[in-house]
Amino acid sequence: MKPASIAPSILAADFADLGRQVAGIEAHVEMLHIDVMDGHFVPNLSLGMPVIRSLRAVTELPFDCHLMTTNPDSYLDELAEAGATLVTVHLEVFPDPTKVAKLARAAGLGFGLVLNPQTPYEAVDPFLEICDMVVIMSVNPGFGGQGFIESVLPKVKKTREVVDSRALRVDIQIDGGITPATAPLARRAGVDVFVAGTSVFGASDPVAAIAELRAAIDD
Ligand code: DX5
Ligand code: ZN
Repeated sequence: MKPASIAPSILAADFADLGRQVAGIEAHVEMLHIDVMDGHFVPNLSLGMPVIRSLRAVTELPFDCHLMTTNPDSYLDELAEAGATLVTVHLEVFPDPTKVAKLARAAGLGFGLVLNPQTPYEAVDPFLEICDMVVIMSVNPGFGGQGFIESVLPKVKKTREVVDSRALRVDIQIDGGITPATAPLARRAGVDVFVAGTSVFGASDPVAAIAELRAAIDD
């Protein structure tokens, strides 16, 4: 398996101090996880183009944009223009994501699919070939700071097995409740990319928190 990547979720950062907080961790992580919420697909609002555009001006980190919205297909060009690198959309919104994947690629974006905790592995199986990343949610989407749902681990394991058996270049990401205690469980199941919000930006020393997370994963 590849070395692990860490993708801090800015949802847990102080939005009044976002540029400085991102600059503080930039050298220690592989990408930034940006949660876009519309108040429809999930019962919460977060951020959109202006924040992404402002962040793009202060960091060269890849932006992994997790789109928790009912209509991500209608603003992919704007996301690319604002500075997104890769977008992930929910299979619960697009049971057949073929068209949205094409739109994302036409906009110059990487593409991934997200599965909510209740969504079975089988939903993504026919579409692995069109993905750069598969995201297994380990909390119900909408809010940071929730507890890790351990029962998603067999789904991670299954995804890993199939990705490896078909020799696909698909990263497996886990999102929600990742801490130094839960990350090793996810790693053992086959995760490449670890989203961490509260455990990074909620820590008094985010750089130390990232080091602690990496040490736990690599253990
Ligand atoms: C939840 C988001 C997550 C969230 C993770 O809907 O998709 O990315 O920010 O936050 P923590 O790490 O606090 O669970
Ligand atoms: Zn997310």
